[in-house]
Amino acid sequence: MGDAPLRVRGLTVSYGASPAVFSADMTVAPGAMTAIIGPNGAGKSTLLKAVLGIVPRVSGQIEVFGAALERQRARIAYVPQRASVDWDFPTRVIDVVEMGLYRRVGLIGRLTRQHRATAGDCLARVGMSDFATRQIGQLSGGQQQRVFLARALAQGADLYMLDEPFAGVDAATEKAIIDVLKSLKDEGRTILAVHHDLSTVPDYFDRVFVINKSPVAEGTVAQAFTQDTLQQAYGGRLATGLLDQLFPATPAAAAPAFPARPS
Ligand SMILES: Nc1ncnc2c1ncn2[C@@H]1O[C@H](COP(=O)(O)OP(=O)(O)O)[C@@H](O)[C@H]1O
Ligand SMILES: [Mg+2]
Repeated sequence: MGDAPLRVRGLTVSYGASPAVFSADMTVAPGAMTAIIGPNGAGKSTLLKAVLGIVPRVSGQIEVFGAALERQRARIAYVPQRASVDWDFPTRVIDVVEMGLYRRVGLIGRLTRQHRATAGDCLARVGMSDFATRQIGQLSGGQQQRVFLARALAQGADLYMLDEPFAGVDAATEKAIIDVLKSLKDEGRTILAVHHDLSTVPDYFDRVFVINKSPVAEGTVAQAFTQDTLQQAYGGRLATGLLDQLFPATPAAAAPAFPARPS
């Protein structure tokens, strides 16, 4: 057993008076796909950003593969929530992917032919080879998301952290992204993704981390993705009928609203 890809202890993050993440413990299992789920404003994005040092933490320890984040940065790839980045100056798709190589090459290092081939392969893996010389700003949101995933692939990381990678993408892109994530997992890499579509959790993920400011549950989908934990985290904010759809066979979901008439 090696070190956990990510271990968080007692993490509290606050933007103002009240914390956005409070006293969170999390242990990410190696070589698995873990979904971070919870209602809007639950602190999911904040948790990822705090792990990466993008937002400061009030308290808490973070270990990446058994060491401080600073020593392990090269082993983490991060795909932020699809940003409304204004690509004002011309940047080609392939340039964006090559940015993923800078940590290996160094900013003043030169990209070799081999590096360029790697970038091309990563673009191919997300089905975007035909767009290599297009301006990133001219692509649809879903296409941009694929390119950012290709950049993360170019990094060759061991832990992939993604913030709602499927938000606002079409079905073809969603399929392309999940296929890439599953192939990363098959290579033994660890995936941690904020995920908003509860209906695809059992299909896509091995494990879940349920949070609403504080952790609600963590474990395999069978252990931690239950009516109980979802109700705890989402309260009345679950779409009507969703629990019945997710847990059709459970007695609680199947129970009649009124006692059956004696026949
Ligand atoms: N930069 C920020 N400044 C102030 N408050 C923020 C900032 N980012 C997030 N928040 C607040 O922190 C809480 C958690 O936000 P976030 O982590 O984005 O939640 P989630 O990703 O689960 O929807 C929310 O109440 C949000 O409004
Ligand atoms: Mg978010």
